[in-house]
Amino acid sequence: MWDYTDKVMDLFYNPKNQGELEDSTEPGIKIAVGEVGSIACGDALRLHLKVEETTEKILDARYQTFGCTSAIASSEALVDLIRGSTLDEALKLSNKDIANYLGGLPQAKMHCSVMGQEALEAAIYNYRGIAHEVHEDDDEGA
Ligand code: FES
Ligand code: FES
Repeated sequence: MWDYTDKVMDLFYNPKNQGELEDSTEPGIKIAVGEVGSIACGDALRLHLKVEETTEKILDARYQTFGCTSAIASSEALVDLIRGSTLDEALKLSNKDIANYLGGLPQAKMHCSVMGQEALEAAIYNYRGIAHEVHEDDDEGA
């Protein structure tokens, strides 16, 4: 069995941020979606962001994943960490920040936290109308 922290197990058993956000009809509010992997296939994550246009503030976020325990806990951590921050602040978040929030992740499970970070980038680029480029050289373990 993996050696998960209590925080990881708590978020896995009591997820609060799962799901989708409906397209906004409120003026000045946009929903952006980012996806990594293949939801139809396996390890994958879809992230919805609710963004206030004038401030670029992330008012709320939700995720869906078919990843493992770490992916679920990492996604919970991600949403908790980015809620209320601006898109620029959110872009600075690293998968290490996610792991730290969780009190650590097993080394072999660090890639699950990278998925959340990549979905976040995809959602932000998508929001800004830029095609998401996958960075092959991203260091998963760092
Ligand atoms: Fe994608 Fe099996 S369904 S690898
Ligand atoms: Fe693939 Fe965690 S999401 S092992």
